[in-house]
Amino acid sequence: MSDGKSGEVTSASSKAPAANASAALDSKAAAKTVNTTRRRIVWACIWGYLGVNFLMFLRFFFPRALYEPNTVFDIGFPTDFALGIDQRFLMTNRVWVVREPDRLFVIFARCTHLGCTPEWKPAENKFKCPCHGSGYDSEGVNFEGPAPRPMDRSFVQLDPTGKITVDTSRLFVDDPRAGVNHFNDPGAFLNV
Ligand code: FES
Repeated sequence: MSDGKSGEVTSASSKAPAANASAALDSKAAAKTVNTTRRRIVWACIWGYLGVNFLMFLRFFFPRALYEPNTVFDIGFPTDFALGIDQRFLMTNRVWVVREPDRLFVIFARCTHLGCTPEWKPAENKFKCPCHGSGYDSEGVNFEGPAPRPMDRSFVQLDPTGKITVDTSRLFVDDPRAGVNHFNDPGAFLNV
């Protein structure tokens, strides 16, 4: 005959192995979760490392080079230019084309003080440098501010078709301090 107490003991003793098994399963699941997380972190590091290296590899195809416009270019026929200052090639080639009654020449748009690009002010009939205030007349000759000499002029010639070719790598200088003036040299202007 069994009493109530022995029944409780039997029931408690049968629950203990089940609880142990459940705890073992929980700890295994926890270990598995930790293992999966660790694996994910490792793979993330590997992919991150490979990704950064791949980007560095791609960077080689985009060197830090300065792409300058071609120094030799056509600007059209002399008849394409009206009297005065033409700004069509300022943004692309950094020059102004100046047409006068008897000649055409090309001013290289670089201030002779420290190299800024002056602006053409039609209302004042002058070029004005925004950096330190140098002023140049409509032929690019300095008359105010710190600029020491007129702006340089680019080489010009007619090609066989009659178009004007400009070469900004060949500049003609007028420098009163040095006693040189090449503005009337062949190639510094075109008779029109
Ligand atoms: S760079 Fe033009 S005035 Fe100084």
